[in-house]
Amino acid sequence: MRVLGIETSCDETAAAVVSGPYRVLSSVVASQLNLHAPFGGVVPELASRQHVRDLPRVAEAALKQAGISWEQVEGVAATFGPGLMGALLVGLAWGKAAAFARSLPFVGVHHLEGHLLSAELDHPPLPKPFLGLVASGGHTSLFLVETGPSADLPAYRLLARTRDDAVGEAFDKVAKMLGLPYPGGPAIEQAAARSPATPLRFTVPRMKDGSREFSYSGLKTAVRVHVEQARLRGENVNASEVAAAFQNTVVRDLTEKTMAAAREHHALALALTGGVAANSALRESLARAAVQAGLPFYCPPFNRCTDNAAMIASAGCRHLMAGERSPWDLAARPTVELPSK
Ligand code: KG4
Ligand code: ZN
Repeated sequence: MRVLGIETSCDETAAAVVSGPYRVLSSVVASQLNLHAPFGGVVPELASRQHVRDLPRVAEAALKQAGISWEQVEGVAATFGPGLMGALLVGLAWGKAAAFARSLPFVGVHHLEGHLLSAELDHPPLPKPFLGLVASGGHTSLFLVETGPSADLPAYRLLARTRDDAVGEAFDKVAKMLGLPYPGGPAIEQAAARSPATPLRFTVPRMKDGSREFSYSGLKTAVRVHVEQARLRGENVNASEVAAAFQNTVVRDLTEKTMAAAREHHALALALTGGVAANSALRESLARAAVQAGLPFYCPPFNRCTDNAAMIASAGCRHLMAGERSPWDLAARPTVELPSK
């Protein structure tokens, strides 16, 4: 089944075509990075307006790159949440309208389901259950991806998520404190590479109830206090040292909690997705831990980790193949949870 996928939940306007759940025929992304960079973060209204401008040509480009016409599209899928309300509305309304006008089946896709299944794009399906860590600017969530209602449609169990800031958001905010550019992740990674063996240490709090949920707000505050106190003492802040200490703490925390969950839930593989998966220290740390635990580890290429529509088309294709259809009045849901067993 050939499915056109649409993704506009944040600051990427994306369209893609898949042929069945696993094969990507095309994937086009128009990034709004330059539009938002001067503001140090995504400006929701600017994002929505840019999606309106870009989506028609991005969708046409996805069809062209796939070498197909509208007549060969058999279904349409669009992200319905979570994300920015205005941004979601653009892609969802466009996807529904395109499907309705051409009498094609339509399904709304949960953004996190897309990220989790991006591990199976142009890659053999991972053994189930596998542990999927989504680490991005909006999410830090650990799921067990299990065999579901049909061969191609898994079921998800949420094991842990962040209680406050997402990990990518913490990278972005710490970068801002250190005077590094937006987006902060790549800037922190580059700065950290200059001081890999710093003795400076930060910690993340242990949850009082013993849960393995994530929390990065306290770490962010610890970095802020460190930076402010150094400045009050008239000392120069060594940005690369602080960046390295921050990154080391995050990588250790994500690796420990992911591996503990893998052991507890007898996962058969590990997948790392989301924009923060671009971080080599994180990828290497998880890859090493997976080898030690005898588990296969997979992290998709960078352009499949960050927001894209191939993952939405693939997830949508699985639902459409299982006979699911969304109603034409499906609403955009900025904070919707992925249904979890
Ligand atoms: O998945 P994504 O493109 O968008 C969201 O859905 O949020 O992730 C963007 C996030 C940003 O917070 C960015 O700073 C972070 O991914 N990021 C990184 C790196 N590259 C991007 N974080 C750490 N290290 C990187 N190399
Ligand atoms: Zn995302």
